[in-house]
Amino acid sequence: MRSVDPEGRLGQCIVHLAEAASTMDEARELAQNGEPEGTVVWADRQSGGRGRDGRAWASPEGGLWFSVILRPRVPPASWSLLPLMGGVAVAVTLRARGVDAGVKWPNDVLLADGRKVAGVLCESRLPTRAESGGSGMDGHVVMGLGVNVNVRPDALAPDVRSVAGSLLDHGGPHDVAGLMGGILRALGERYALHFQSGRPAAFLDEYRALSVTLGRRVRPREGPEGLAVDVQDTGALVVERANGMRVVVPAGDVDVAGRER
Ligand code: BTN
Repeated sequence: MRSVDPEGRLGQCIVHLAEAASTMDEARELAQNGEPEGTVVWADRQSGGRGRDGRAWASPEGGLWFSVILRPRVPPASWSLLPLMGGVAVAVTLRARGVDAGVKWPNDVLLADGRKVAGVLCESRLPTRAESGGSGMDGHVVMGLGVNVNVRPDALAPDVRSVAGSLLDHGGPHDVAGLMGGILRALGERYALHFQSGRPAAFLDEYRALSVTLGRRVRPREGPEGLAVDVQDTGALVVERANGMRVVVPAGDVDVAGRER
């Protein structure tokens, strides 16, 4: 089913499928065929949902699984901030609905008990030199967002059950379509204000305020433990070691010591 939003923001065109292997693939194909910015592919369930670092993403019925096409008009060097912006959009939308959500670096959305309730995956296609005329301003990003809305823990794989949370336990069942509308609005506002205006790092103050990582001891996957002290304009995490030396973790995951938020 296809529907059109006359407001013309993100989600102006929504392709709603009962099932998809992954909305990332559906959206990528549409983007490559010239579908405009803001088009959303939303599936009630995914048979091959994927997460970051090649991990599988359990996507049973009851959750919110969607991807949105973005065509940023800022140089690709700033595109690494988009997943963080996705995490902020989900967290503020949940908080507006009374759910105590925060963002674990880089873009996992956690509940107050430390369980992960949502994740963001961005896949981009940079322009070729010939397409962009060397400007670097074409190409697209597919941003996929997954939220365990009305998902029962037993519908999740045993290995994620211990770390995943569901909104079902937080005032559920929730209106899945309404939540997607809220997230798209929150994302669209920030994207327009901070990203398309050419000042992509400005939203980082909001990110810092929502962070459940900053001020905590973290262990990067490589390297010794330290205190998470800041997030740079690129989205990289700055970690201060016991000897006072600061290291920059550009991407990946960190373990947060003694995490209960
Ligand atoms: C993560 O590893 O935290 C990112 C998870 C992203 C999941 C979403 S669900 C909608 C979209 N389709 C996918 O296959 N993945 C993303």
